[in-house]
Order: sequence, then structure tokens, then C-alpha cells
Amino acid sequence: MRIPIIAANWKMHKTSEEATSFVSQLGSQLKAEDALETVLCPPCPLLALIAEPCRKYGFKLGAQNMYWETAGAFTGEVSPLLLKDLGAQYVILGHSERRQLFGETDQQVSRKVRAAFAHELVPIVCVGETLQQRKAEQTNSVVGEQVSIALRGLDPSHVRRVVVAYEPVWAIGSGLTASAHDAAAVARHIRKIIGEMFSLKVARDLRIQYGGSVKPENIDEFLREVEIDGALVGGASLDPLIFAAIVQNALGAVAS
Ligand code: PGA
Repeated sequence: MRIPIIAANWKMHKTSEEATSFVSQLGSQLKAEDALETVLCPPCPLLALIAEPCRKYGFKLGAQNMYWETAGAFTGEVSPLLLKDLGAQYVILGHSERRQLFGETDQQVSRKVRAAFAHELVPIVCVGETLQQRKAEQTNSVVGEQVSIALRGLDPSHVRRVVVAYEPVWAIGSGLTASAHDAAAVARHIRKIIGEMFSLKVARDLRIQYGGSVKPENIDEFLREVEIDGALVGGASLDPLIFAAIVQNALGAVAS
């Protein structure tokens, strides 16, 4: 039984005051539900600040990136050890903005995924094709390669806990979304690849989110697809009322 997971990717937004006020407003809108996991991924310096209020309301905490080393002379980087120490349970890895703007490679994502598990963090591994790749009908091959490199060599007991976020690059922040049907087809392909690499059981256990212009009005279409187990939400996660509506509509879709 896969528990749906809705994660807020705040990206480089919010000050300390905005972050604490967001958590209390969201907390007043939602009650902790076993039927769904809600994860907040603030910029790293805000993790410690919202860890306690998140615990109080039953929200999980995630980071948006990390380095793979535990400590050392890596100016400007943040270690998985510190993320764990600050209260993070999840870490987004390989987001397309990291890949496109900061040159992150599949191999680096793979090292980060292994380091996350070494520190008991669950990675949310982002994959997705560009518009050009979609038009060239390369979606499955691009996403398949990203997934297989990211998960290569992992212990199956870890792989089943991974969250894969399928985020078409052209849908991120654009207002465009993949159709739920197309997103489910890609999710099925991801499970097929993982089934071949590990086992059918592992492929069935792990959760796959959709990401890219998710909002309260479209979340239920995605969650009605059996292959899709939640969403990674950027822009629409910045307002507590809008994000609460996404979580509530997701719960409604799961229940129906
Ligand atoms: P968006 O971003 O919801 O603003 O499209 C999603 C993401 O980048 O994870």
C-alpha cells in the first residue's frame, strides 16, 4: 500500500517570518492524516526553524539539495549529516533547476542518492524530459536513463523507499501540465525499468509523484491515476491556503 505524498518545493523563496507563518496557517487548515504524507521543503537555512512546528502539525520536512560528502572542505555545500541533524527526513535530488542551472549530472545525482540513504534521508529523485525531447519522442528513454543511473547499485530495501518525482521540464513553472494519462504512462515506464533492475515488488512499492504546474484544480486528475502517488508542487506551494487546498483535494481523490 503506497501512501500518497504531497511535497512543497519552496525553491529560493520565503524569509524566516514568512516560513513560520506559513506553517501555522497550514497547520490551522489541515489535520495530520495517516492517509497522506505532507512534506515541506524550505531553503536549507529555514529547516531548523520550522522543524518543531512541522512536528507539531504532523508535516514532514525535506531539503532541496545536498552534497554527498559527510563533512570537509566543500565551501558552500550542505551535508546529509547536517540535514538529518536539522530535522529533515526527505531531500529533493536532481531537480531540473539543479541540472539545468547548476550543471548537475546523473552521476552526481546517483552519488547523492546513495549518500542520502547512508544518513537515513529519503531521496525525492526528480526526472523529466525537455520539450524538445518530448517532441522527438525521447521521453521514455531520457527518463529511463535518469532513473537507472540515479538508482544504480542501490540496495533494493532502499529503492523501495525512494520517491521518484516525474517532472516534465516544460511543465515546471509554465502553467502547462502533462495530461494525467501521459504522466501515468511515464510512471508506468519508470516502474518497468525499476522492475527490470530490481524486482516487481520493489517497483510496486516505490512512490512516483507528478510535478509541473500542479494546482488545486488539477491535483485530483493526477491522483486518480493508480500509477501516481502524489505531487511535487512548486509555485502553488508558496501560499498556505492554496497548498492546503491541494492537500485536501488530493485526500478527496485518494478517498474516492
Ligand atoms: P511548479 O514547480 O509547481 O511551479 O511547476 C514544480 C517543481 O519545480 O518542483
